[in-house]
Amino acid sequence: MRHSPMMEKPGFAARKIAADLLGNVVHKHRALDAELDLASGHSGFRALPHQDRALVRAIVGACLRRRGEIAEILNRLLDRDIPEKTGRVQDILHVAIAQMIYLDVPDRAAVSLAVDHASIDRRAKPYKGLVNGVLRRLGREKDAITNDLDADRLNTPNWLFENWTAAYGEETARRISAAHRNAAPLDLTVKQDPDGWAERLDGLALSGPTVRLRDRATVTALEGYEEGAWWVQDLAASLPARLLGDVAGLRIADLCAAPGGKTAQLANAGAHVTAVDISAGRLKRLRENMTRLGFSVETVAADLRDYEPEAPFDAILLDAPCSATGTIRRHPDVAYIKRPRDIEKLAEIQAELLGRVANWVRPGGQLVYCTCSLEPAEGEEQVSAFLNRNPGFELQPVLPGELNGLDNSITEQGFLRTLPCHAGPDEGTWEGMDGFFAARLRRL
Ligand SMILES: C[S@@+](CC[C@H](N)C(=O)[O-])C[C@H]1O[C@@H](n2cnc3c(N)ncnc32)[C@H](O)[C@@H]1O
Repeated sequence: MRHSPMMEKPGFAARKIAADLLGNVVHKHRALDAELDLASGHSGFRALPHQDRALVRAIVGACLRRRGEIAEILNRLLDRDIPEKTGRVQDILHVAIAQMIYLDVPDRAAVSLAVDHASIDRRAKPYKGLVNGVLRRLGREKDAITNDLDADRLNTPNWLFENWTAAYGEETARRISAAHRNAAPLDLTVKQDPDGWAERLDGLALSGPTVRLRDRATVTALEGYEEGAWWVQDLAASLPARLLGDVAGLRIADLCAAPGGKTAQLANAGAHVTAVDISAGRLKRLRENMTRLGFSVETVAADLRDYEPEAPFDAILLDAPCSATGTIRRHPDVAYIKRPRDIEKLAEIQAELLGRVANWVRPGGQLVYCTCSLEPAEGEEQVSAFLNRNPGFELQPVLPGELNGLDNSITEQGFLRTLPCHAGPDEGTWEGMDGFFAARLRRL
């Protein structure tokens, strides 16, 4: 089908590839970033001109952020479900509806390209008339059909919404879901002088070393990139390393370190860092990042389940592999590629890693465990279970005032728990941060 003459029609290839990518994410559970990778991703996407690639990203982004609303719109338009075996019809309709309702694409173009797509897809072809009829009706009755959509509830899959409701209450679950409708701003961690960099980059100085930029500009073109004055890191992702306090001169193991956001923070604060990660490829990126930033750290490519340090560390930061449901604003595909059993499997790995690495910190030393997940099974429950099993460790609660302006992200127990709907430290800080969990433990 790639060589169909239709592919030459202006705008067609972008819609066809958007439907392909949407299908790969929601049916095959493939990560969107991997599909969009310009070196190794979807070949059709890579071959598109720059502008069309931006359009594909916008369409797939809207399809995923608004997936529940779009499904409900379709539901209202169809008398009966479209059979699964009809292949691409659903994806084609979702791509068209995203353009008609959530993007600035004229209805006529969205409808005719969807019909074109159905007409060249063997299994979708019999539904060409249905695609045409349904989308034209949507064009005519847009207001009535999109009326009263419960976006906050619809756009989060049931199992995640139930998890978040159980953990944070329904109102907060709704606010988390609402936060996922918008892409995240670009946060940088600066080596020094956040106020000066905020002025130079026309951004906002937030808590500590974070400077927030409104637009996701091309990072490498921004002032300060070449000279290594800052690195990209969400405000929430910068908090776990800050929990270790003054680390100057300490030997610290940054475990699960790549691509190195937290390694850079620790090195910037004067620690001697050993950065360990299982992935040689990701570790290469970490080394490139450290070279740009002018930091010297030891790197080790190893599975933490095999690695044995030569001597105990003064402190340890474990940023364990997790479901990443705290990053759905940045990666809207996460809500569809992860499933409940992934959380269970990851929680087992986290327990194993935490249990093992805890022995590598010297008595009296601190251990920070963190994940970018909203699921208590990967955070609060993980640490509570660890403390029950390991009386040789105690929780060192995060205290009010410790994370300038972010007290609403500290739980009663003294855990750090940020949510995508948490405001920044001041009013007007363009709302939000990744969902992170962190706990600070001390070896007795
Ligand atoms: C959340 S990411 C780390 C992000 C990083 N700490 C930062 O701030 O930039 C998790 C990392 O854990 C690594 N990882 C997963 N399982 C591992 C294992 N068994 N041993 C070592 N590293 C592992 C992955 O390769 C991945 O780079």
